[in-house]
Amino acid sequence: MSLIEIQDVKKEYKVRKYGKTYSLMAVNGVSFNVEEGRCVGLVGESGCGKSTLGRLIVGLENPSEGSIAFNGEIIHKNHSRKNPSKLRFSREIQLVFQDSYDAVNPKFTAKKIIEEPLKNFTDLNPSQRDEKVEELLEQVGLVKEDKEKFAMEFSGGQLQRVCIARALASDPKVFVLDEPLSSLDVSVQAQILNLLSDIKTEMNLSYVLISHDIEAVYYLADALVVMYGGQIMEKIDDLSYFEKMVHPYTKKLLSSIPVFEKRTDVTESAESIGMDVYVQNNTFKGCPYYGRCPDRIEECKESKPEMKELATGHFVACNVL
Ligand SMILES: Nc1ncnc2c1ncn2[C@@H]1O[C@H](COP(=O)(O)OP(=O)(O)O)[C@@H](O)[C@H]1O
Ligand SMILES: [Mg+2]
Repeated sequence: MSLIEIQDVKKEYKVRKYGKTYSLMAVNGVSFNVEEGRCVGLVGESGCGKSTLGRLIVGLENPSEGSIAFNGEIIHKNHSRKNPSKLRFSREIQLVFQDSYDAVNPKFTAKKIIEEPLKNFTDLNPSQRDEKVEELLEQVGLVKEDKEKFAMEFSGGQLQRVCIARALASDPKVFVLDEPLSSLDVSVQAQILNLLSDIKTEMNLSYVLISHDIEAVYYLADALVVMYGGQIMEKIDDLSYFEKMVHPYTKKLLSSIPVFEKRTDVTESAESIGMDVYVQNNTFKGCPYYGRCPDRIEECKESKPEMKELATGHFVACNVL
């Protein structure tokens, strides 16, 4: 049994455009597991459904279809109004946001920010809470005197540390990290990555690390899920298969990273139609990557590729492979 089991999850939004309402499948049939103490990297370009999936995992939203189980118990599924989700596990699954300046009230002190989950989830008295706040600040590489500082007085990297301390305060099992580095300077990104790596080991945490940047994910992840248009294109259970990833979209992602060897076999097709036409058209039956895929065949227009296991722990959804 995996710690988190995401089973065929879909999330539909009703969107109004030019006076018409249409349905947008932000997440369209996603399944993967998160093992205890492991980090699953979730990559794909902007708009592919990563944040929506993150919000579904932490229970900020409920799936339209499918289910999410934690420790073998279904915690989120399509609950009706009469039978709303209880979100009982929100203490154990914590979300760390992209932009820490957005995630906290700038006029709150670090202590007030970190103390909130301690008030909600523990029986600690005020002086014990104070001690715990100091301990958490030190755990994330800040000093205990920082507790009196206001959020707006911290740098971006420091405030991200405060947010990580707040997430740790509820003694979670899982962190869903939604682009935790993208608002930070490159030098600070490395420090936060190191911190995340250290506390993962110390606390035996499991991570879902969401990023459009496959390079940052590579550093921390044990497993990798590549999404496009709300669907999984390729996933590997073990990062040692990284070199063997074959989906045309994964290759495209990798080709944009300078540290990995440049691939010459993938170029954006000149007559590229762009993702939106196929992704946002809910009636399109084919592969979401059809419009941009350099390897597409006629079949890709007609049928959505099934997920198949190329090798143990290596799954790909592609009609060509
Ligand atoms: N609350 C919402 N209402 C309507 N559409 C949404 C909502 N949230 C996300 N979307 C749409 O769902 C798609 C996936 O968005 P998102 O999950 O934010 O992608 P990512 O995090 O990968 O950039 C996008 O097309 C976005 O516009
Ligand atoms: Mg996002």
